[in-house]
Amino acid sequence: MEFTKLGEGKTKEVYNYDSSHVLLKFKDSITAGDGAKKDELPGKGVLNAQTSAFLFRLLESKGIETHYVGMYDERTMIAKKLKMIPVEVVLRNIATGSIVKRLPVKEGEVFDPPIIEFFLKDDARHDPLLNYCHMEYFKLMTRKEAETVEEVMLKVNQVLYPFFKSKGLILYDFKLEFGRLDGKLIIGDEISLDSMRIREEKTGRILDKDLYRKGADLQTVKNAYEEFFRRISE
Ligand code: CDP
Repeated sequence: MEFTKLGEGKTKEVYNYDSSHVLLKFKDSITAGDGAKKDELPGKGVLNAQTSAFLFRLLESKGIETHYVGMYDERTMIAKKLKMIPVEVVLRNIATGSIVKRLPVKEGEVFDPPIIEFFLKDDARHDPLLNYCHMEYFKLMTRKEAETVEEVMLKVNQVLYPFFKSKGLILYDFKLEFGRLDGKLIIGDEISLDSMRIREEKTGRILDKDLYRKGADLQTVKNAYEEFFRRISE
């Protein structure tokens, strides 16, 4: 790419596009366990870029601001340049994953209202849980900003949960990352099956990255990502 690379994570490369925009190029890599497990899954980058673009457009259509501007090519998103906050914000509708190991809750327990959690992006420390005091101490966000972020998480859930439900899919949980632009907090990063847990309502069948985490073969993972994109976009 003829643009200056600004950074690279486990699944995306970031390039400077112009003074106020970046390009996010989605790679075919799939990782789990804070990068401990890693594979190449041809076509996955395009699928996650398309899924993220579709869901960002859906949120924008409901008045929720995101960094999404458009697509540069099929695997590369044009996004507003944000000052990213190294925090992962998770909303949980149904208990699964780390919360079941951490707290006395049972797999499948329903959270109403949903539970929102903050984690520091720090693979070496396995993304530790943060509270408001930690975030103020590390100058990540003020308490007021954290409360605004929680409101945005709930709004996003109020859009995504019924949308997926109408496709016969249940949104167990999802993770978003936020960045600052002119004093505002805006949704950045991606929304894809790498960052959400989605199960088929009728059968309970897993369609998300848990397939990979649990050791399914790569073709099964690819088929699930493809099926999900087809179901949401048709
Ligand atoms: O994935 P794990 O069980 O370690 O963590 P979790 O806290 O149960 O994950 C909650 C949600 O956040 C799931 O939808 C994960 O896919 C997502 N997540 C993520 O996108 N990136 C991470 N580093 C950790 C979780």
